[in-house]
Amino acid sequence: MMQMIVGNWKMNGLGASSRDLVTEVAQGLAAMPSAPQVVVCPPFTLLAQLAPMLKGTGILLGAQDCHQAASGAHTGDISAAMLADVGVEYVILGHSERRRDHGELDETVREKATAAAAAGLTPIVCVGESEDQRASGECRDAIGWQIKGSLPDGFSGIVAYEPIWAIGSGVPASSQDIADMMAFIRAELVRQFGATGKTIRILYGGSVNARDAATILPIAEVGGALVGSASLRAETFLPIVRAAV
Ligand code: G3P
Repeated sequence: MMQMIVGNWKMNGLGASSRDLVTEVAQGLAAMPSAPQVVVCPPFTLLAQLAPMLKGTGILLGAQDCHQAASGAHTGDISAAMLADVGVEYVILGHSERRRDHGELDETVREKATAAAAAGLTPIVCVGESEDQRASGECRDAIGWQIKGSLPDGFSGIVAYEPIWAIGSGVPASSQDIADMMAFIRAELVRQFGATGKTIRILYGGSVNARDAATILPIAEVGGALVGSASLRAETFLPIVRAAV
């Protein structure tokens, strides 16, 4: 399976600098003899203006959340259909920062994943254990419950494993930790979804940088990376894309 590199811009990016960033990433990508699938996930405010710029570049557009309802009285929220309407193809759901800042529970994430798929979007559902869960040896239980609770029946999207303690720390999880958790997640997906579970792409996220990407991406079951801060500059994002070729 071709690797996938997803840039999660989080709450960063204004118009002019973001247009420059996607232009530079597109140019860098065009200069590569072969490239993985690249997805950028800017904040909602930039989606409509970046969508036309990405056409023909091979870069696909993702969002960072959607509401679980199709429409209606949800002030300040954005539906999956609205995202699809402006050219979005992927949506990150259940990121640990949303679980933390907005109290999102597995059940809500599952409903959002259903809504996203119904609108034709590919959900990228995030799971990951906290530092405390890791320290007390509860990693597998925590991830197992999140997978069970956050992925709807018939799920055919992407799962991102982002250990919370590695996000923004500057140091990714060790290769051994990643390999162990990837194998565990794959087994859980197969247990839950049968044959489809074998085909679900699993991304690793948490301080992915150019140096470590070359070690992380070849690990068994790693189907790509979900990149935070390093996706905000072409000079830090493009080397990760290159490492995935
Ligand atoms: O979704 C990506 C993410 O949470 C990782 O962020 O900055 O550690 O690469 P970062």
